[in-house]
Formats: sequence, C-alpha cells, structure tokens
Amino acid sequence: MSGIESQAVTDAWARLDRAAEAAAQTPILSLFEAEPDRLVRLTLDAAGLHLDLTKQPLSAEGLDAGLALVRAAGVEARRTALFAGLEVNRSEHRAVLHPALRAPDGDFHALGEPVSGEVRSTLGRMHRLAEDVRSGDVRGATDLPFGTVVHIGIGGSDLGPRLVWEALRPLQGPIGLRFAANVDGSEITAALHGLDPATTLVVCVSKTFTTQETLANATVARDWLRAELGETGARKHFVAVSAEPERAESFGIDRDRVFSFWDWVGGRFSVWSAVGLSCAIALGWRPFEAFLAGAAAMDAHFLEAPLEHNAPVLLALAQVMNRDGLGRSARAVVPYARRLTLLPAFLQQLEMESNGKRVRPDGHTVLRATAPVVFGDAGTNGQHAFFQMLHQGSDVVPLEFIVVARQDEGPADLHRMLLSNVVAQAEALLVGRSEDDVRAELEGKGMSAAEIDTLAPQRVFPGDRPSTTIVLDRLTPESLGALIALYEHKVLVEGVLWDINSFDQWGVELGKSLANRVLAELEGGPAQAHDPSTLALIERLK
Ligand code: F6P
Repeated sequence: MSGIESQAVTDAWARLDRAAEAAAQTPILSLFEAEPDRLVRLTLDAAGLHLDLTKQPLSAEGLDAGLALVRAAGVEARRTALFAGLEVNRSEHRAVLHPALRAPDGDFHALGEPVSGEVRSTLGRMHRLAEDVRSGDVRGATDLPFGTVVHIGIGGSDLGPRLVWEALRPLQGPIGLRFAANVDGSEITAALHGLDPATTLVVCVSKTFTTQETLANATVARDWLRAELGETGARKHFVAVSAEPERAESFGIDRDRVFSFWDWVGGRFSVWSAVGLSCAIALGWRPFEAFLAGAAAMDAHFLEAPLEHNAPVLLALAQVMNRDGLGRSARAVVPYARRLTLLPAFLQQLEMESNGKRVRPDGHTVLRATAPVVFGDAGTNGQHAFFQMLHQGSDVVPLEFIVVARQDEGPADLHRMLLSNVVAQAEALLVGRSEDDVRAELEGKGMSAAEIDTLAPQRVFPGDRPSTTIVLDRLTPESLGALIALYEHKVLVEGVLWDINSFDQWGVELGKSLANRVLAELEGGPAQAHDPSTLALIERLK
C-alpha cells in the first residue's frame, strides 16, 4: 500500500506487473499457440474502425490484469463524470465535455449548466457562414467571392484543423485553405504569398486570444488586409474563434464575426468546435457534419461497449503494458496513408500535452511512468528513415500502424504495394529473422565462414517487437472523426490509470513567460539575471 492509492489499485498494479514479468519472458508469437482465442480477444470493431492488438504483449492474464486495473482505478466512473460534465479538470475547476460538441441533439451540462443549446446555435452559425462563403453569398469588401481561407492558430488551435484538412481536402476545390502557426515570420509570409487580399478570408483561432504566436501572425495578416482594403474593408475579411470573444473584439474583429467556444473544451480536444470552422468552409458543411458524426459513433462505443471489447480501453492497456510493465518509453505512430502524415504531430500534442505529467491531482508524485514519447511519419516513408532502429535498435519501440483498406486515389497497384508494406513491416517486427536463417542465406551466397561470423549477427532481426494495427475501411470524414475520438478517449483512460489530470498543461507556462523576458532583452531592454549558458546565448543572438 503506497498510502496515496487504494489497496485495490495497488493490488491491480501488482498483478499487472506480474503479468508484465511473464510477458518479458514470453515471445508474443508463442501466445498464439498457447491461447487459441487470442485473435478473437484482441481484435475488435468500433465505430467503423477495426483494431488488431494481437501483436501486443498482452496474454490472456495480461489483459485480465489490465481490465482489473481499469476497474479498480475507476475508469468507468471517470468516463461517466466526463460525459456528465462534472469537474474532471480539477486544477482548473472545469468540465471536459468535447463529446457535447459532436452531439448537436444532445442535452449536455457542464458543471450543471446546459450547453447543448449554445453548441447547436454555434454550429448553426458555422453552417451558415460555411455555405454562404462557398456559395458566394458572403463576399469580401470589393464584392469578390472568397477563394482562400488562411487559418491562424497554434497547438490545439491548429493541429486538428490542419490534420482534418490534409486528410480530407479535395485535389481541387472552390476554396483553398492555408495555415500559419509558427511565430517564425516565414510561415505567415508563405501562407499569404501570392494571395489577393480581396479574395482572402482570415480565420484567427485562439482559445485564450493571448497566445503570442497567434496574435503576432494575426497582426501581420490584419496589416496585409488593411494595406489593400482599408480598415473597414479588412473587417469583412476577418473571422475569430475564441473562448474569450471580448478579447477578439478588442483586437478589431466585429462581434458578428466572432465564434465562441467554451472553457470546457480543451485546446487539443477542440477541432469539433468552431475551431474547425476553416475546415467546414473549405471542405463544405456536409463533410464537417459527417466528421462530427464519426466521433459521436466512437463516443457511443466508448460509453456502451463492455470494457473487454472497448477500443479506447484496449488501446490504453497496450500502452500501459508497454510503458509501465515493460519500461518502453516511446511509441511510433505510422499511418500508411499520406493524407494522415500529420497524425503523429496531432497525437504528440494530444498525448504528450495531456499525459506528460509527473504529479497527481492531489499534489503527490505519480507512482508510475506516464506518457511515452510519441513520434512517427507516414509509411512507407518512415521505412526509409527510422525503421532501422525499430527493427534492430537496442530499445524496443512499440508501433501503431494506421491502414486505409480501400483507396480511391491513384492506381490500385500502388495501393496494393502500400498495403503489402504495412503488413510486411508488422510481420517482420513480430517474427524477426533468426541467425540460423541468416547464416544459411550467407552460406548459400558462398561467403566465407569468417565473414559470416561477423556479418550474421548484424543481419539478425530479434523480432518480438509489438505493434497495433488500426484499419479504416476508407479514409472518410466519419472514419477520421472516429479515429481522433478513439485517441481522445484513450488519453482519458490512460490518465485515470496513471492518476493524472489529462486536461491541464501547466508545463507550457514557464517557457512562455521566460520568452517574454528574453524578448524584452533582445529588443534592447535591461539585462536580466540568467544562468551563464543562457546569458552567453542571448549575447550572441543580440
Ligand atoms: O501550448 C499551450 C497551449 O495552451 C495549448 O494547450 C493550446 O492548444 C495552444 O497553446 C494554443 O492556445 P490558444 O488556443 O489559447 O491560442
């Protein structure tokens, strides 16, 4: 008994640790023979997605131990609390209610206050603006229709819409969409390059409307619009999305061009809100609605499916077994879909900002390792970059493969090649290649015994490297919505198991405030106290 968690939780972790010790001694492959129902137990369908966890180090006992932990830690109660709009984000005294955003017919309450009416009304305004911009009923200051939306925002106000747009954008559509997040001036310059202010709509997204990067980029865009269209004209080209609408108005955006969202929507969970407005305009309203519906289907699955067939729960348990049971501190996410190239970056924020914590809500230090490093790139590209390490490196890095079974873009034979690669990679990681096999091949090539002795070990693949495969039948607004919601709920489950608040982000504050101090110095202000290394760097940059 640790003194800060219940005996039931301590016991459940001890059981999981025992299962992990066994897993460390048991090749995953051997489990298929030992447990004939493995394929059934570790595959499932949820909201149109197919999950295959059969290549994870989860034995029947490991899974049962994990499910016992889920029960003991109170995942079900926290899930209920989240959907009931209770104060799940304790450090900020907020509800966490992103499911309300994709259930326009729902009746959700945040901390007892009804919210679904406001959600409906905001969706209604988004719908109107999206249709009016697309039809040309809403035009710019010179009466020209809008041809491009420039979305300005960062972090949760950028990564979701960027992912959605790249995943679903038409090759050619009536409205283009560009993004500017970084305060590196080259980004807004590139975003505006070649555009005509008269046909450009700027959508500035910031939950707080205080974020340095976003305000700096919005100022550049506002000046760019004003230079061509004048102050009054520029107003017709600016829309804001914020949980602080007054601040957006103070920035100079007309009230009827400000779309609200609410403090119960975390930035990294906000793509379903008006934060997704740029996508609704550029993709069209129907796809955006379908995206919300896909997420709502995953919400229903998460709420209703039994724990042992619950996709977010099983995905979280695979993570916890690898991270806590087997000490694996990274996870690679590799979508075999060019359109999902941004998924790893999106998940970096979702998972690492949510669960990269070492202190519990009660102020005690956590007892177990929390979020791993998440990284990745699209396959097959990643195969020619970091996969060497995944196959033969000294660390075991579990993977998540995202596969789109049917692809309408491009020749069918290319898609079959893509599919063959992902299947082969997962197989190679699991099965590996023995030294005997390598030696036989090298002998067949007539290599000398001395050469074989040095080369064969280098060409061995140890195998037993775990992966999960998530299959989308097609990449559609619905399947993308379900996929993102799957990860959102996985984050919640992990947060409960690790006993952390997944919904605050105090760790981003220190750097922000120090940057303001350093900025004052770089702008010629008085020198401040710094460590010697930082002082030297400031001097050089001055
Ligand atoms: O990086 C910290 C953070 O607060 C994220 O959580 C958030 O998504 C991002 O900055 C942008 O914040 P805002 O939407 O308030 O501009």
